[in-house]
Amino acid sequence: MKMSLLRRIISCSAKHARYASDTAKKQPILKNIELPVKNAMEPLISEHLQQEKGRIYSSKPFQMKCIEGKKYYWCSCGWSKNQPLCDGSHKNPHYKAKLKPVLFTIEKTQDVWLCNCKHTGHRPFCDGTCETEEFKAKVK
Ligand code: FES
Repeated sequence: MKMSLLRRIISCSAKHARYASDTAKKQPILKNIELPVKNAMEPLISEHLQQEKGRIYSSKPFQMKCIEGKKYYWCSCGWSKNQPLCDGSHKNPHYKAKLKPVLFTIEKTQDVWLCNCKHTGHRPFCDGTCETEEFKAKVK
């Protein structure tokens, strides 16, 4: 059964709502919905700020149960065969990937929606970019 991204975010994040204001510009339909989680590693890393966007792996986010305090490396280049996590493929010179994985942890064990389109404005979490008309036009 297909569920809209909006419904998935609401059901996943009712208790943990927070939404980045910069993504709201791209996501008018989600403007008042806050993102479910934040990356507790964000103050310590810079990979989430890389300007380039990765190869589109899938236009659907991936729901994954993340364990409190456990470190994960989210694939930002889109070449990993272990999506949505990094498998080291970004180091393969054949792919010419410039992006590095984004280290993240969460503060409470829960299911999170990880971006698989690699165009999110809130790495590594899905921010609804894959649901925008602008993005859908790119994928066509
Ligand atoms: S394989 Fe994509 S960032 Fe490592």
